[in-house]
Amino acid sequence: MNNPEEYIQVSDTTDIELGNSVSVNVNGTKILICNTEEGFFAVQDRCTHALIPLCGGFIQGTLISCPLHGAVFDLKTGEVMAPPAFEDLQTFKLKIEGTSVSVQNPDA
Ligand code: FES
Repeated sequence: MNNPEEYIQVSDTTDIELGNSVSVNVNGTKILICNTEEGFFAVQDRCTHALIPLCGGFIQGTLISCPLHGAVFDLKTGEVMAPPAFEDLQTFKLKIEGTSVSVQNPDA
């Protein structure tokens, strides 16, 4: 049985500048860790429109724009805010301890 409270260390806050993101692979799931003005957030690193990585998308406030066709998602909730995507992103719980960034096990 997987433990839903299991967090996996994936990155360090000092490696992700404000307004940037890094893609990490957690047990085969690609997760995007984003540093925003309101803190760090973790979402699936796959746009729900044409299923390409969101990594490298422009981050403004807590919104990210898909680099391919410009769909906009709220990183806090995963909610789609602008087309052409219409499905929300999956979000993942994230924990920061010191400078260490961990995400909840996506398989749990
Ligand atoms: S692939 Fe993201 S908006 Fe089209």
